[in-house]
Amino acid sequence: MLIKPARRLRGRLRVPGDKSVSHRAAMLASLAEGRTLIDNFSSSADCASTLEALRGLGVRIERDGSVVTVEGAGTPGGEPRFRQPSAPLDCGNSGTTMRLLAGLLAAQPFSSVLTGDESLSGRPMRRVIEPLELMGARVKSTEGHAPLRVEGRRPLNAIRYEMPVASAQVKSCVLLAGLGAEGHAEVVEPLAQTRDHTERMLRWFGVRVETRELSDEAGRVAVSLEGGSRLMARDLTVPGDISSAAFPLAAAALLRGSELELEGVGLNPTRAAVLKAFRALGVTLEVAGARERSNEPTGDIRVSSVGGLAPVVPGANAIRGSTIAQLIDELPVLAVVGTGVEGGLEIRNACELRVKESDRIAATVENLRAMGASVEEFEDGLRVEGPVRLRGARLRSFGDHRIAMAFAVAALTAEGETEIEGAEECVAVSFPEFFTLLESVTER
Ligand code: S3P
Repeated sequence: MLIKPARRLRGRLRVPGDKSVSHRAAMLASLAEGRTLIDNFSSSADCASTLEALRGLGVRIERDGSVVTVEGAGTPGGEPRFRQPSAPLDCGNSGTTMRLLAGLLAAQPFSSVLTGDESLSGRPMRRVIEPLELMGARVKSTEGHAPLRVEGRRPLNAIRYEMPVASAQVKSCVLLAGLGAEGHAEVVEPLAQTRDHTERMLRWFGVRVETRELSDEAGRVAVSLEGGSRLMARDLTVPGDISSAAFPLAAAALLRGSELELEGVGLNPTRAAVLKAFRALGVTLEVAGARERSNEPTGDIRVSSVGGLAPVVPGANAIRGSTIAQLIDELPVLAVVGTGVEGGLEIRNACELRVKESDRIAATVENLRAMGASVEEFEDGLRVEGPVRLRGARLRSFGDHRIAMAFAVAALTAEGETEIEGAEECVAVSFPEFFTLLESVTER
């Protein structure tokens, strides 16, 4: 993919449906009694992997573009009737598919195998194996990696699980398994609160989910539900994906004179920290038409850029601490934005970035340096100097959609052309329309 520098971005965009919400919509609709129509379902390859895996469990799913209809396997007794899969369920590149499905499958009375591509097979799975085994399932892996053989059991033991890592995937895995447990299942988040789409959507389907702040410690949050709770089918609309919106927003923020509007974007507070970070760096952002859609806040985002970026609140040059979990997927593009910020940008406490679809710290550092930025690498993050004019370069995508998109944004701001190897293929993992949509609002 060859990317030429841009003058500015102008126009309106609608990003596809949220990936995290779409995975959950498909899985919970499969567990529910009755038929659910899901509107604005994500166009990502990751969510297609979830649909295929659910079909492998005998769930009837129809798809017409962004409209997905799921015939739930739920029964009045509360036990879903899935079919034991006749072949391994292929999760492709999708960590969410594998980790959430592991929880769902742990509570089924049969064994199943979850596989993934090379990147997914290198990612840590002990974080889900441990709680699922505590609940009474058996999960065989290759030293904590996929393929996973999940030997389910029903009912599982209800546990109280204190998560060692801030991960919405782990939390959701335990909650899905908890639906098939006997008694009260509880997950305690570490200090950082992770995205709460699973909790919101369980409630949408009629499950009582309690979220409470623990009084004994500094605001940790515990989420719990009753095993055996029934899910009732209910149509829903998926909000636009804020993590996809972050890329055109970042490009507009960096390119002077840009004016861009993104319609119908999800604004869930556990996902919207990226907007706060942009604002703190002097980006002019407005939200209009705020509304709730299927238990998720949404709205239209307007970004305009008149001058250079500079911190407008103390400490804006550093992103660290408990906020990291709430903008984890936006960190590569935020690092790119850092090259345009007076005083640069430091990202810390972000070790999790090393175990995403690629080692996103190493990938970001390598590509920023290739474009002439001055970057320091830390075990848990990086520091990029700014403002600096990037130079076009030949870059690697590391087979990682967010790295490809972050550096497509960098390329628009650079002097000279940039080539990103493998970018077109890998953006399909979360945002297949990325290059076409971006081009439609780019002025050169
Ligand atoms: C996701 C949670 C995050 C995020 C991923 C999607 C989810 O992962 O990085 O892209 O849908 O729950 P972790 O929960 O492992 O941090």
